[in-house]
Amino acid sequence: PRTTLTLHPEFRVGEIDRRLFGSFVEHLGRAVYTGIYEPGHATADDHGFRSDVADLTRELGVTIVRYPGGNFVSGYRWEDGVGPVSERKPYLDLAWRTVEPNLVGTDEFLQWAEREGITPMMAVNLGTRGVEAAAALVEYCNGEAGTRWADMRIANGRTEPYGVHLWCLGNEMDGPWQIGHKDADAYGRLAAEAGKAMKLVDPSISLIVCGSSSMEMDTFGSWERTVLSHSYDIVDHISMHAYYEELEGDRASFLASGTAMDRFIRRVAASADAVGAERRSDKTITMSFDEWNVWYRVSRFVGEAALPIQRDAPRIIEDVYSGLDAVVVGDLLVTLLNHADRIPVACLAQLVNVIAPIMTEPGGAAWRQPTFHPFATAARLARGTALDVRLETPPTTTAQHGEVPLVTAAATLDDDGALALFVTNRGAEPVEVDVDHLGLDIEFTGGWQMLADAIPAVEGPAHAAAVTEACWSEVTPPARAADTRTTIVLPPESWTAF
Ligand code: AHR
Repeated sequence: PRTTLTLHPEFRVGEIDRRLFGSFVEHLGRAVYTGIYEPGHATADDHGFRSDVADLTRELGVTIVRYPGGNFVSGYRWEDGVGPVSERKPYLDLAWRTVEPNLVGTDEFLQWAEREGITPMMAVNLGTRGVEAAAALVEYCNGEAGTRWADMRIANGRTEPYGVHLWCLGNEMDGPWQIGHKDADAYGRLAAEAGKAMKLVDPSISLIVCGSSSMEMDTFGSWERTVLSHSYDIVDHISMHAYYEELEGDRASFLASGTAMDRFIRRVAASADAVGAERRSDKTITMSFDEWNVWYRVSRFVGEAALPIQRDAPRIIEDVYSGLDAVVVGDLLVTLLNHADRIPVACLAQLVNVIAPIMTEPGGAAWRQPTFHPFATAARLARGTALDVRLETPPTTTAQHGEVPLVTAAATLDDDGALALFVTNRGAEPVEVDVDHLGLDIEFTGGWQMLADAIPAVEGPAHAAAVTEACWSEVTPPARAADTRTTIVLPPESWTAF
């Protein structure tokens, strides 16, 4: 069967919010210490932040960064991380059983983000803390002079409010591993009250309530319904988290992770809309997909009380990625773009060292993992409006997800008429795709491609360079066959951007 793809400027999903290209920095492993921050490193700036990492972050095209967790936030006292560094005390983080030195806290992070032109997105602790600490942190960040917490910020050297707009009401509160884990009613009530107080401090902020930690949670669906039944009127977005991996050599299912993500998004949207319908509400709750990536969960480390407490930025969940992982990341981006109307915010989890597109050695180099390339390319090219791509593709059958599309695609059109097309071939054979660009007078002018070649996983920059060399390349764009028709040939297990 033929694979055809029809593009028309009037077939639209919605405007792309630039925050779709977000990432995440948690106080976990080497994300902060020897990741973004390493005083004494040859490239460190005056504030102790690595400029080689900042340069790669810019090249990655990250627009927004979530901070400080993640599981970490659920036990964190933000007050311990502000004020004179010499007076700050190390803190035992129970989520990762690591000693947090508190050298980087709210001010250091927000000022780093500001210097790098990144929008910050903050999370409050609704595990061990509650309404008061959450409202105080909003005041510390966004308050004008003349009240206690805003004055504390000013005393700490920062006069202007930071104006942090986007706030997560805790993290993965449905997960039994979460410090201060709660059932849906308890969390929903707390989130609504904390959110109410936070908006009383600063009515201009937007709030993200915790959805399920994954679609596989036993409480998935009922969690969303109960939590939103308490918080619908006060929150703006509901969070989604999903990590994908190749299980037991089932490559076909892994390559179809984008379909699993698509189903997850549709189900969360349906759950949120059902609550809205019951309330006869005209408000639409949108989604913040604030943790997504490939993650080989053998390296998971949560709640391992038997393991010793670690110090000095331990190496935790530093996955080494392959071309196959990068093809899947590209396909997940296709799914996110196809839901641009419902997903204004998404965060590739995480940014540096921890399941990350950027890796570093302490005192040494910083480099790109294979997953860096599809993200950076999509962040660079996907602008304006996401088009509703009409795709006719044969199916392929997978053990985990049943029948899924063999080819997936997303397209964007910016105000200057520049089109970007992202296509995945999930199958083991090449596929010819007929692109019908009705009403679009376009030439294909550039192409970049990721192939899922198997490359031995050897850690370090040499591995990343070898994968890039073998799997990632610029390709010749196809010539237009007729006025509104172009044929593209997709290699097996590939992700391509034109
Ligand atoms: O991103 C790593 C961890 O994954 C986060 O801390 C947590 O929210 C999720 O389980």
